[in-house]
Amino acid sequence: MNQNPTTSSPERAGGGLPDLSVDEPLTLVIFGGTGDLTRRKLLPALFALFVEKLLPDVFRIVACGRREYDDQSFRREMRGEVETFKRVSCSEEQLDTFIGRVFYSKGELDDPAAYDALRQQIDQKEFPGNRVFYLSVAPSFFAPVLRHLKNAGLIYPAGSPPWSRVVIEKPFGRDLASALELNAEVFRLLDESQVYRIDHYLGKETVQNILSFRFANTIFEPLFTNHYVDHIQITASETVGMESGRGAYYDTAGALRDMMQNHLLQLLCLVTMEPPSGLTADALRNEKVKVLQSIRIPTLDSIRNDVVRAQYAAGELGPENIPAYVDEDRVAGDSSTESFVAARFFIDNWRWAGVPILLRTGKRMARKQTSISVQFKRPPMDFFKTVQCEDDFCDLADAQPNVLTFRIQPDEGISLNFATKRPSMHLVVQSSELDFNYADTHEGELPEAYERLLMDVMRGDAALFTRSDEVEAAWKLMDPVLQGWRERGQRIPMHFYVPGSWGPQAADTLFDSGEGRWTNS
Ligand code: BG6
Repeated sequence: MNQNPTTSSPERAGGGLPDLSVDEPLTLVIFGGTGDLTRRKLLPALFALFVEKLLPDVFRIVACGRREYDDQSFRREMRGEVETFKRVSCSEEQLDTFIGRVFYSKGELDDPAAYDALRQQIDQKEFPGNRVFYLSVAPSFFAPVLRHLKNAGLIYPAGSPPWSRVVIEKPFGRDLASALELNAEVFRLLDESQVYRIDHYLGKETVQNILSFRFANTIFEPLFTNHYVDHIQITASETVGMESGRGAYYDTAGALRDMMQNHLLQLLCLVTMEPPSGLTADALRNEKVKVLQSIRIPTLDSIRNDVVRAQYAAGELGPENIPAYVDEDRVAGDSSTESFVAARFFIDNWRWAGVPILLRTGKRMARKQTSISVQFKRPPMDFFKTVQCEDDFCDLADAQPNVLTFRIQPDEGISLNFATKRPSMHLVVQSSELDFNYADTHEGELPEAYERLLMDVMRGDAALFTRSDEVEAAWKLMDPVLQGWRERGQRIPMHFYVPGSWGPQAADTLFDSGEGRWTNS
């Protein structure tokens, strides 16, 4: 595809773009400050923002944890982590300056004294009054930490400067009841405008590109309806399993709670929502909520046909021997947690009535891949045959439907398949592809999701964060499935799949027309 090279650089393209740098001084407090997310994602992301001059001139980062560190020993260790995981190139001096603004506060999450000590520390003049509290802690601590923060007077009321904002990592609840309870507790302590519920998929560059693709172009949007679209499929497959003790959390969650309730439903919303009235947080979130509320709620009976759950069996993935899911570290030997789930949903609105939307996600699959494919209907009359060739061998098949694919990761881009006449005396067609690839137009790595999201929290832009009604609407769709699995036990089968495959064969039954299939490329 021809690219206009002048669009590859935001600097060149953006003479009149708004300045995204955060100009208000602030203190960012991270609970779970010694954890994996802080080391691998949060500090490297903050460092990238610092190098790119997007952080305010005055900022302080306070990591809270239980482990024994003082500021110096914590900085030494985090310097190493930032060096390992950073995306941007930098000078030693930049690294030193950044790390010099990181502090450590030791304490137990449930100890009020820890919050008093934190307040004494950040009430000091050198810590700016605007505060972001990042809760990178186990979900059972979300409400207690918020209560302690409030009781210790660390959170200011909404509406007047200085401001306080709270970032909550997923999972937000483990079913509808717990999500409602958590939202109720959050609203007892905070205003919605102070709450930033993170879904890191929304921070991915290519996920945001779904909106630009749909609403900055006129040629595709009219086709995004049940008149032209046969079905939509969304895949988020991973090769990772239960490494690094991850089984402890995962076995209590499973693929449906871990990926489908949040990331996959968010992708579904972005690809099917109506044009928003603007790009404000509420305008975008209103449209996403409308989609979620229009999705037909599964019933205990419908889940038998519309949802497939599975676990990986023992096998090999490349050179690695993979144990069966139930034999993984920190997974119960008789676990009925799914490491794979596929589901078919229908959006009961005018635009999408009757169009199946298929979602699937799993661990230990063939490849790490997140993609959305919009498959269009076949032409009303089938004049042509498609030539399909493998090596020297060519075969004739029915013409292939058009497919528009958003490659969220890896190999980020967008492609469109269409039929072209194959040069020969015969009137047969072949499938060709228009392909846009970020790597061709954008030098260097794309910004990390956490960079974007952290910057937005600091700027007070909640557009890429989920609102309470969105979270609740998403759980309403998942609850009957969880309930069905729980109550109907063996009558809803647990399928098995080979590590390195695309999941169980049973997932193919979700295409009941017989001609659809999962796109595994
Ligand atoms: C997280 C899930 O939210 O997303 C993990 O808890 C999963 O289980 C991860 O591995 C996938 O994120 P990404 O950005 O690597 O696709």
